[in-house]
Order: sequence, then structure tokens, then C-alpha cells
Amino acid sequence: MKPFLKWPGGKHRLSGLICSKLSAGRRLVEPFTGSGAVFLNSAFELYLLADSNPDLINLYQQLAKEGHTLIRYCQGLFLPENNSASAYYRLREEFNASPKPGRRAALFLYLNRHCYNGLMRYNSKRIFNTPFGRYLKPYFPEKELLFFLERADQASFLQADYRDTMELVEPGDVVYCDPPYDPLSETAKFTEYHAGGFSWKDQEQLALTARDIAGRGIQVVISNHNTPAIRRLYQGLGASIETLNVHRSIGPDAASRKKVEEVLAVFEQGMV
Ligand SMILES: C[S@@+](CC[C@H](N)C(=O)[O-])C[C@H]1O[C@@H](n2cnc3c(N)ncnc32)[C@H](O)[C@@H]1O
Repeated sequence: MKPFLKWPGGKHRLSGLICSKLSAGRRLVEPFTGSGAVFLNSAFELYLLADSNPDLINLYQQLAKEGHTLIRYCQGLFLPENNSASAYYRLREEFNASPKPGRRAALFLYLNRHCYNGLMRYNSKRIFNTPFGRYLKPYFPEKELLFFLERADQASFLQADYRDTMELVEPGDVVYCDPPYDPLSETAKFTEYHAGGFSWKDQEQLALTARDIAGRGIQVVISNHNTPAIRRLYQGLGASIETLNVHRSIGPDAASRKKVEEVLAVFEQGMV
């Protein structure tokens, strides 16, 4: 099943392959949940779904709590009169000012489906600033929301940095990490921060933590771009690497799209 959110780097198309690499366990921990494609397409008994984006986790928590009432309420925003630049910018402004969790959750879903390319982008003051998307008729993902809701009682939702989520991993868990991608250009890699605020140091720290957790008997699987630096990093720490034979398009328009490969690094339980 497709996630109800559009999410850059979403793993819907790769979820079958990713799930086939996950070992059996009671609970799946996802420190970078995003749209939850792996959660929605796997069959663990329990899930710990975390992400650093507070609006994303608020939406999941509100949906789990309010259920069908929130779905109906969200649907009320998907009206033809709200599909114009002026309505979009008014609702975007309201979202940025709103302290109410339920209203904020509904507006987040509205923005996700009406903004440019589903890009959930914030400025340094955490103001959501993606422009209007100009879609003919934005899709209201009702069946996807209902599917998510059916499974939500198996999950705990947590707004957290991945370092804190990794501390909560316990024996019997399996961990799937899908961090922001290592950038394809070398210059971007060595700047302290790049789009998404995830630096090369973070990539290294995540890989080291994965190796340590695997040493405690817990499997950790990590997705990333197939770059030489990423291969060196994961292989150097003893992970097995699989190049996924799936090409994903990146870039906003056909002209700037490049085909990129992805890797899946598996830190097997018991590794030292
Ligand atoms: C590539 S996306 C995950 C996509 C997800 N697997 C899916 O299928 O939609 C990366 C996610 O990491 C989150 N993120 C970025 N930095 C983070 C951090 N330091 N700790 C936890 N989550 C972070 C982002 O909010 C984003 O949702």
C-alpha cells in the first residue's frame, strides 16, 4: 500500500526489496520514518516510528488518536476553492501560526498534497515555505489514510533525533534506517550542513551506531545513495552491501533528472 503522504526519498517502490532483507523480530524501529513506506508494507507485531520532523509526528499522533474524525476533517480542506495560490498561501500562513495540534495536522496534509512536489521545506526559523504546486485536482488519499489508521495501533510515534531513537533499541528489535541521502556532489558532502541538515559526520555516526547495535545482536539495515564514500563507510565497518537495481529519478523536472542507484547496507546481528 502507498503511504498517504508524498515524501522526498520515500521508499514505496523499494519497500518489497527492503522488507525481504529484514530479519524476523518482534518490533521494527524506524528512526527516519518519513512517509512510513516500510512500516506500511512489512508485518512486524510492533513498530517504533520516529522522525525529527515534529509536524510529521504530530500528524501521525493525531491520526492515531482522532481516527476517522480527523480523516473527515482533513477531507474538508480538499475543496476546489482551496486549490488556488491565494487560498494555499493563506492556509500556509495559518499553518505556520497555528499552535493547535489537530488543525496543524490537517493543514500539514493539505500542504503536502497542494505544495510543489510534496517538498516539506522549512526555513531556518522553522517556517514552512514551499510554494504552491499548481495541481489540477490534488488527490485526497482516503484509502491510504484508512490503511495507515488500521495499522496505527501497532505503532508508537516519537518525535526524536535518530541518536535518541537508537538508544531505545532493545534485543528482539530490527532496525531500518533511511537517513537523508548522502549528496551526490563531493563539495556538498564536506560542508557542515546540507539540505536536510544531515552532515557527513551524521552519516558516519549513524553507521558507527549501527555497527555497535549489531554487535548487541540486533540487525540494522540502512538505505543510501550508491556513492563511493558511502560504500567505503559501510564496508569499512563490516556491513554487507547490496546495490538495488532500481533507478530513482531525482530533480524537480525532466531536464534536471538524473538516474541514481541506491544501496542497502546490512549490519547483521552478532557483528563486531
Ligand atoms: C529519506 S527520508 C525517509 C523516507 C522514508 N523511508 C519513506 O519511505 O518515506 C529521511 C527522513 O529523515 C528525517 N530526518 C532528517 N534528519 C533527521 C535526524 N537527525 N533524526 C531523525 N530523523 C531525521 C526527515 O524528516 C525525513 O523524514
